[in-house]
Amino acid sequence: MAHSSSDPTPVGIKIGSTRTVVATPDGRSIDTDTTLTCLAEYEDVLSGEQHAIFGQQAVDEYPESVEFMLRTGLPEDERRTKETARFFERIVTANDLDPNSVVVYAIPAVNNEAGIDNLGTVIESTPIGDRLIRGYPESLCGSIPAFGRQLAAIGRVFISINLGSTNIGACGYQRGKQLVRFTTGSIAGNEVDRWIANNIEEETQGRVNVDESTAREYKENHGALDDFEPFTDAIQQPGGGTHEFTINRSVVDAIDRYVENAVETIADEFLPQLANDHMKIYKHALGEPIVLNGGMASIPGLVTTFEERLGRKLQHDIDVIAPETPETAAARGALQIAEQFVNQDWFYAADDQTP
Ligand SMILES: Nc1ncnc2c1ncn2[C@@H]1O[C@H](COP(=O)(O)OP(=O)(O)OP(=O)(O)O)[C@@H](O)[C@H]1O
Ligand SMILES: [Mg+2]
Repeated sequence: MAHSSSDPTPVGIKIGSTRTVVATPDGRSIDTDTTLTCLAEYEDVLSGEQHAIFGQQAVDEYPESVEFMLRTGLPEDERRTKETARFFERIVTANDLDPNSVVVYAIPAVNNEAGIDNLGTVIESTPIGDRLIRGYPESLCGSIPAFGRQLAAIGRVFISINLGSTNIGACGYQRGKQLVRFTTGSIAGNEVDRWIANNIEEETQGRVNVDESTAREYKENHGALDDFEPFTDAIQQPGGGTHEFTINRSVVDAIDRYVENAVETIADEFLPQLANDHMKIYKHALGEPIVLNGGMASIPGLVTTFEERLGRKLQHDIDVIAPETPETAAARGALQIAEQFVNQDWFYAADDQTP
């Protein structure tokens, strides 16, 4: 393959089970591109060939057959690895990503070595990252923008909590090194979507049933803990005509329950584990900002509610912070790491595969 000898382009990537985010430099700021991690296959009615469409278009046009191939967090098997590779190729083309690049990707905090290897295979199968490919934990990447434009997060000792679609992950970091890694799938953004759907069925006395994608959209567009507002939507009636309905507490109640569970798990499971293994670090880290990241941290009011409730439970004043736009923070942080590799000339020579 022909290589250019010019400096590589840094790229930051997060392949999440709900959204995939690509971050690239845009002058002095950062450009992000977000795509729902899903695809829908269809047969071309003329040629009979199988085709696929991706992202929001797949959700909108094939609501019955759209597949989120990373529903469980990582590419589980060969089929899903292939689908993810196909999806990711499309992302690379759509963003016109440079083969002459240093790619850093955010690795989800899950205990699934095979899945993480499959994710690595997907990234290595695309024509990008000729000069270097590296992975760093998602919750570390997401914390970088929370502590500012520089890589300050990598010089600190702090706790980071990632609020994702399929799990909650928490970790103590000591200058970028993971101390205790905790993950639980029992509290998850996807679960909140199911609660919302159930709440709506109850709130409307069974008149309205929404699917999980719709529930997720309600959560993302109307979810708030501080000053939530009721909202209305309409569904098509089976016999014709539309039925307009108002949602009062269905969304906010589900989010409230989520925060309650998250606080309880962090206080009763993760923090005791950290204290047990690293007592001094635990005490130190409680005096430092605790970072919340992952898409669920985008919900207005969630960060302050989490801070109040966790502080009350621990009987300790704590400071909880979040990056701006948490849903893209991991990709932006990954990009900042990639920029550091480029600036320091830590990458493979263009015509060489050894450093
Ligand atoms: N702006 C938003 N408002 C509310 N919720 C959001 C927003 N953006 C994303 N979310 C929710 O956050 C969750 C996705 O978070 P994130 O993108 O961090 O997950 P992921 O990395 O895809 O998942 P996982 O780490 O579990 O694989 C989903 O439940 C999604 O609905
Ligand atoms: Mg994630």
